[in-house]
Amino acid sequence: MKTLVLTAHPDLDTSSVNRRWYEALSREPTVTTRDLTAVGGPEMRFEPRAEHVVLRSADRVLMQFPFYWYSAPPVLKAWLDQVLLPGFAYGPGGDQLVGKELGLVISTGGPAKSYASGSYNSFTMTEFLTPFEQTAKMVGMRYLPHFVLHSAMSRDRAIVDASIPAVISYATTPIADLHLRKERVPA
Ligand SMILES: Cc1cc2nc3c(=O)[nH]c(=O)nc-3n(C[C@H](O)[C@H](O)[C@H](O)COP(=O)(O)O)c2cc1C
Repeated sequence: MKTLVLTAHPDLDTSSVNRRWYEALSREPTVTTRDLTAVGGPEMRFEPRAEHVVLRSADRVLMQFPFYWYSAPPVLKAWLDQVLLPGFAYGPGGDQLVGKELGLVISTGGPAKSYASGSYNSFTMTEFLTPFEQTAKMVGMRYLPHFVLHSAMSRDRAIVDASIPAVISYATTPIADLHLRKERVPA
């Protein structure tokens, strides 16, 4: 199984979580990482045909990002808008992503318990991420349960270290063997 990781962080040099995940995933032989900020440049311009080539060769596509204002950083939206074109991803002849898997790898500053009805973030991660879930459905991809590391701003290095094998497993384990967990919000 080949996995493509689309990393959407505005500045990986200043990142403490996503940079570590990006570096670890980049060392995996069956994983191709793509730093969208580097590829798109300051104007976030993507060459759709080049993106389509890398997408076609992937079985699983992961979007990896820090949670910013309850969504992804803008470079990922730019990539989606410019790359998921009619005739490729949807519409007549637009079946190139059908059957591939889509997963999200996310770090949040807020703790897990804040992502619940009645807490200060009001909604679960699953609820915040419904635009991605529907995007997957629209283009015929199989949407995987998300991977989230909460409290990322207060994470010490040991906890980030411990998350790395889990991220690699999420990226490389075939779906039949993937341990799919329901969203849990600790008290
Ligand atoms: C512009 C901005 C918006 C953010 N919005 C949220 C948010 O909506 N929810 C949240 O839990 N954390 C939020 N954070 C915290 C980031 O998710 C956190 O700093 C990031 O996941 C850490 O990852 P990194 O070390 O790879 O940058 C925000 C941070 C920034 C800079």
